[in-house]
Amino acid sequence: MEVVLTGIKPTGKAGTLHIGNYVGAMKPAVAASRNPRVHSFYFLADYHAIGGEADSVARSTLEIAASWLAVGLDPSKVVLYRQSDIPEILELTWILHSVTAKGLMNRAHAYKAAVAENEATPGRDPDQAVMMNLYSYPVLMAADILMFKAAKVPVGKDQKQHVEMARDIAQRFNHHFGETFVLPGAVIGDSIATLPGLDGRKMSKSYGNVVPLFAGEKELRKLIMKIKTNSLEPGQPKDPSDSSLYDIYRAFATDEEAAAMRTRYAEGIGWGDMKQVLFERINTEIAPARAEYERLIANPREIEDLLQAGAEKARAVSRPFLAEIRDKVGIRPLAR
Ligand code: TRP
Repeated sequence: MEVVLTGIKPTGKAGTLHIGNYVGAMKPAVAASRNPRVHSFYFLADYHAIGGEADSVARSTLEIAASWLAVGLDPSKVVLYRQSDIPEILELTWILHSVTAKGLMNRAHAYKAAVAENEATPGRDPDQAVMMNLYSYPVLMAADILMFKAAKVPVGKDQKQHVEMARDIAQRFNHHFGETFVLPGAVIGDSIATLPGLDGRKMSKSYGNVVPLFAGEKELRKLIMKIKTNSLEPGQPKDPSDSSLYDIYRAFATDEEAAAMRTRYAEGIGWGDMKQVLFERINTEIAPARAEYERLIANPREIEDLLQAGAEKARAVSRPFLAEIRDKVGIRPLAR
């Protein structure tokens, strides 16, 4: 069975997840995870998040796990775990260092960007504040992927290079120690699913134009009322292809609902009415997830137990596989 694996780095707050993330990434991922022909692994990459505030790593792990569970990720259908609960991943990371060329890591975008910024600042050492965990980041990520023999890794564009590096590392290991790892490939989410934000530009945290996924009902309504429109009056025909409100509605609606809405645009629906319809459509879909999110956040024990159960499933794979890998590289008992 095909293995699909993806990691989410627990940095930032779940409060920064927005309805664009929901329709563009979370909803399709949850739908894909229900496909009985794929074996899905989802994990919280907390080792990748070390370095900032200690409390924020743990808090963000809780919030991100709660968010995904709330929107329908089903831990009985996928393996959901926390990276740091799988010690075999760290052991594999070190082993992979032995087949990872330093020159390959020199080419990693994130490391290069940090060095370039230092070089642009007069008097600074090029490696100032560059920690080894930034430099080795792709090796840990390779271990995440290779440990579970993932063939497909859905990631954002910024992570594509890391998946390609994991593939290079796997190839080198296989060449050196014999066929061991599945060669992974990145699956890049299509950007068709990006939503416009309040001001009409792409909805993005960095533009400050987002509708937060778990905004309360009142706030949700208030934000939707702020979405930019043109100045056409009620009764004047309107063009759905030039309307943020329609684009957002389309992302939530069925094909039939969308077709009916295009008719109402042609008939001249007023912007106020359209905003009300949009608010109701989004709220109907999000309200149960919002309630579930709040319930889960108040019950961290429940999430911890789920993660522990997920770790057991993951380790049923990683323990025997690591034993095999250790033997291949020559880490063996002297007598059996
Ligand atoms: N580096 C990824 C990010 O920042 C998160 C991640 C860690 C990941 N390990 C992974 C993604 C393995 C896919 C597969 O978004």
